[in-house]
Amino acid sequence: MSAAASQAQRVLSGMRPTGQLHLGNYHGALRNWVDLQYKYSCYFFVADWHALTTGYEDTSKLPEYVHQMVIDWLAAGLNPGVATIFVQSQVPEHAELHLLLSMITPLSWLERVPTYKDQQAQLAEKDLATYGFLGYPLLQSADILLYRPAWIPVGEDQVAHVEISREVARRFNHLYGREPEFEAKAERAITELGGRQGALYRQLRRKYQEAGDTAALEQARALVTADTRITVADRERLLGYLEGQSVAILPEPQVLLTPTPRLPGLDGRKMSKSYGNTIGMREDPDAVARKLKAMQTDPARVRRTDPGDPDKCPVFDLHKVYSDEATCGWAAQGCRTAGIGCLDCKKPLIERIVAEIGEMRRRGQEYEENPQLVRNILAEGVERARETARETLDDVRRAMHLRAD
Ligand code: TRP
Ligand code: SF4
Repeated sequence: MSAAASQAQRVLSGMRPTGQLHLGNYHGALRNWVDLQYKYSCYFFVADWHALTTGYEDTSKLPEYVHQMVIDWLAAGLNPGVATIFVQSQVPEHAELHLLLSMITPLSWLERVPTYKDQQAQLAEKDLATYGFLGYPLLQSADILLYRPAWIPVGEDQVAHVEISREVARRFNHLYGREPEFEAKAERAITELGGRQGALYRQLRRKYQEAGDTAALEQARALVTADTRITVADRERLLGYLEGQSVAILPEPQVLLTPTPRLPGLDGRKMSKSYGNTIGMREDPDAVARKLKAMQTDPARVRRTDPGDPDKCPVFDLHKVYSDEATCGWAAQGCRTAGIGCLDCKKPLIERIVAEIGEMRRRGQEYEENPQLVRNILAEGVERARETARETLDDVRRAMHLRAD
């Protein structure tokens, strides 16, 4: 399939390997990935190079973190039969595109990304005055643009990074997207389609360009994509020629904002590894039940007879994610009237969470017991990813006059 035609259906996202994932990661990202994999052609990768930008001093746990995270993905329901799952560092094309893009990226773009100064301040104990750390969003841009995806499912915190990838793409296309003698080459490509198809292409292109007929545009695209004899370069030209005078070598992706429920951790703050308030996706069910029984509730509810306020209780936030309306209603009502105790309130929640975790443990176990399975999945994913990546990089090199045609 051609880049332009397949872009409409491609989705890409990545995660830094931080060891075992928790329910916050599941509800904040993974669950959404699992849904998307059946609607789009999805590329999901472990951003292990990104982990180095802040964790370059001790890299010894990286292999284990990568392995465990991939098991978590599979346990969550990612299906390697439909989604392409791979590790960033096994696709060297990411590094090459990063290098090439670095040549055209103004330093100021990177310096003004909000996460740059924020993270440096937050992680003050680390020396983050490095080249790699400054380049974090550009490496991410390379990750993205390499697959020419239409959508990037991420949370709010990553929007600025996707935005910079759009700016970089625009700059690249502006500098290199205009192939010399594009029009002549496109005209020649039309003749490659053959007499009848070529005439049809011209007719549809005119309908679209003169009358804005989008059905004609779609039909012409289909005509071009279905032709298996023309070269990839010609296909790109013909697709680009339909809409304008040049080709977008690196199409601009868009954020697909993940709807994230507020998932509180055990202490009521946002669930996060750095707060040590997490419930692991595949944690031991007894330990999870124990943790939940001890979980923070509305602090005003000291005695069983004190009424509480569910809106001030993190347990109720969990109900909102896990329980149906009836159960939420029962909990809120029982809380406000002191009709139920906090342990009563937590009981259905504990059952739901333990069941969810049980399901993920079950799915993960097979991979836990057989690491070779995981390696095979990643090997296959890398193959597929590289195929797409190479296509883009070929176009990029050609556009930058870095290889002879
Ligand atoms: N920066 C992302 C994060 O910390 C991870 C990431 C790296 C990513 N490359 C990406 C996400 C490309 C989406 C697309 O979560
Ligand atoms: Fe929270 Fe439920 Fe206790 Fe109310 S009854 S304080 S909602 S745990």
